[in-house]
Amino acid sequence: MAHRATLVPGDGIGPEVAEAARRVVEATGVEVLWDVQEAGAAVIESEGTPLPDRVLRSIEATRTALKGPITTPIGTGFRSVNVALRQELDLFAAVRPALSLPGIPSRFSDIDLVVVRENTEDLYAGIEFMVASNQLSALRALVRDLLGVEIPWDAGVTVKPISVSGTRRIVRFAFDYARRNGRRTVTVGHKANIMKFSDGVFLFTAATEASSYPDIEFEECQIDELAYRLVAEPETKDVLLLPNLYGDILSDLCAGLVGGLGLAPGANLGWEYAVFEPVHGSAPDIAGKGLANPTAMILSAAMMLDHLGEGGAGRAVRVGVRTVLAEGEVRTHDLGGSSGTVEMTEAVATATKAARNNS
Ligand code: NAI
Ligand code: MG
Repeated sequence: MAHRATLVPGDGIGPEVAEAARRVVEATGVEVLWDVQEAGAAVIESEGTPLPDRVLRSIEATRTALKGPITTPIGTGFRSVNVALRQELDLFAAVRPALSLPGIPSRFSDIDLVVVRENTEDLYAGIEFMVASNQLSALRALVRDLLGVEIPWDAGVTVKPISVSGTRRIVRFAFDYARRNGRRTVTVGHKANIMKFSDGVFLFTAATEASSYPDIEFEECQIDELAYRLVAEPETKDVLLLPNLYGDILSDLCAGLVGGLGLAPGANLGWEYAVFEPVHGSAPDIAGKGLANPTAMILSAAMMLDHLGEGGAGRAVRVGVRTVLAEGEVRTHDLGGSSGTVEMTEAVATATKAARNNS
């Protein structure tokens, strides 16, 4: 039976890596009927928004999407499409595995980490007060009144809400994930000593929920120390459970540990919908040149295949990627090679097909 999925190519290198992923999925023999939905920079002019409603409606219908990166203009302008999508579809869990791959020059060779990031709350909730705005004057007055604290008149403010219910579901998700995937330890990263009422909620809710999972070890670590431990002794860590902002930052760090952003896949999951996307962004510096490493997007597609119940195909894609990287003949620029996106894609597609036929 054919599966249905939404494909959001995105912008920057998005369309190039999306095409690559589609090609490799095709090589697995699994039939996916893609509903292609453009979003991002390219549609702002014609549709007045980077995230038209039709994109959400499509994902609501297919329940599954593979998404390329989308540029977020800094400072002013539109809200991040990525953040909006996660909130609109309540994709509260981001899962980002960082696994050492063969033939990749990197500092460590035995990394096997998974970042589980809360995806809807924290400083990314979108509660922002612009410097010198009327809203900010009202907020300053309120804070002065309630707490006797003066917010500088020339400050901009972002609010950091972390709820018990929002934390509880991500904690349970992380522990269930650990259990399902044979993982031993969940480490929660926080700064609850400083941010007692936001990170404090995250830490204490995590500790409470952890007691329902006696088979999984629970560990807590302050976020700055965790950053240090991850670069000093990453092999000692397993599943990392993180609030939104720390999860965003440490996902890139973990990608760096295994050889770069071009290799790091991810999933955004909720109770109803799943959107798979690489950790990396739209890489404007190399967009349109045929240089992007499609591996992160291809591995995101493999996670999607697992999710669709096509675990054999997902495995074949991962074997295909590992085979090509181990052989080392076809390698993109970010990995020190000279191959382009299309060449890399064709090599992975061929190796995936072979892995599929051998299984
Ligand atoms: P970026 O991940 O796009 O690029 C960082 C560096 O990594 C660049 O040098 C880039 O060339 C390189 N790189 C990234 N992916 C690569 C790949 N597949 N192959 C080879 N090299 C790769 O991060 P940056 O520059 O901070 O963000 C660019 C734009 O992307 C921003 O507008 C940002 O908001 C957006 N972004 C979107 C995301 C999403 O759609 N989920 C996630 C992260 C950033
Ligand atoms: Mg990020």
